[in-house]
Amino acid sequence: MQFFARKLMDWYRENGRSLPWRGTKDPYRIWISEIILQQTRVAQGYDYYLRFIERFPDVQALADAPEDEVMKLWQGLGYYSRARNLHAAAKEVAALGRFPDTYEGVRRLKGVGDYTASAVCAFAYGLPCAVVDGNVYRVIARWLGIDEPIDTTAGKKLFAALARELMGTSDPALYNQAIMDFGAVQCTPASPACLMCPLNDGCAALRLGRVGDLPRKSKKTQVKERYFHYFFVRAGAYTFINKRGKGDIWQHLYELPLLETDVPLAGKELLESPQWAEFFGGTPPREVTLVAQGVRHVLSHRVLIADCHEVVLADESAFDSRFQRVLVSELQNFAVPRLISHFFSLLLEPNQ
Ligand code: ADE
Repeated sequence: MQFFARKLMDWYRENGRSLPWRGTKDPYRIWISEIILQQTRVAQGYDYYLRFIERFPDVQALADAPEDEVMKLWQGLGYYSRARNLHAAAKEVAALGRFPDTYEGVRRLKGVGDYTASAVCAFAYGLPCAVVDGNVYRVIARWLGIDEPIDTTAGKKLFAALARELMGTSDPALYNQAIMDFGAVQCTPASPACLMCPLNDGCAALRLGRVGDLPRKSKKTQVKERYFHYFFVRAGAYTFINKRGKGDIWQHLYELPLLETDVPLAGKELLESPQWAEFFGGTPPREVTLVAQGVRHVLSHRVLIADCHEVVLADESAFDSRFQRVLVSELQNFAVPRLISHFFSLLLEPNQ
């Protein structure tokens, strides 16, 4: 076996983390764990995985669940299209009658890309698929001193080929866990402990003093600011919410009535805007209180700058009919983005 693969696997036997999805060959459980762990750190995904598997122990249970319940369990994890796709794919698998057991079969499931298909096939079936995630890009780019950016088609192809070559004929399940853990724990993005690294002898980036600037990316992600103004409307024991639709962030999650602007807007300007009049049908609310201001919520391509107003209606029947009227005491049953649950805790648990 090649030096690189052997060293990684030796390192993993000593230092690998014991994680709940590692003791199984069940493709369903492995698939769930890999979808949760995309764009989510292990520390954050751990409890979500346990709750998800407890509530949906097999693919049929997930396929049979109402979408709102799946979204509720996902609440707070972000990238909510993952949960919608997971649910749709569970229905596909239930219709097939069994979990697909080839790379092509797994790859065809909704929400499954090359990464997830390789991970499921390597971990569940021991197929010789090399997994390439952010950790793997970093370990390979540093070990071989690769300058090619990882976010271009050519770069992705090159790294996929190198990953296959470096895996060689080793045990794919063990090797892939090893390289991913090695990236997460040892060969970390910032300040890796190169002095203690079992691969420091042959590492090109270390030899060239380039550990800090590999791997490379071709472009910086464009981050755009959006200004969100939310209204928690008090109508006796009721308030108003809305399910977000297609074509934007947070699809199928609930939120409060929202007025969005692409420039900062506050006070009088906000209360005199045309959208405000649409909400309140020309009858000004009895009371408006600013509950939170300038809350920054960072998403991958957006920074939201949000405020929240508590509004007491003068006429309870006058609120915009596009919104769903719900009991305040039942708000916890709806899946909402983290930003909204933050506002709920300020509004409903003021002593915290
Ligand atoms: N990140 C993504 N998949 C993982 C896994 N199987 N173990 C640890 N971290 C991961």
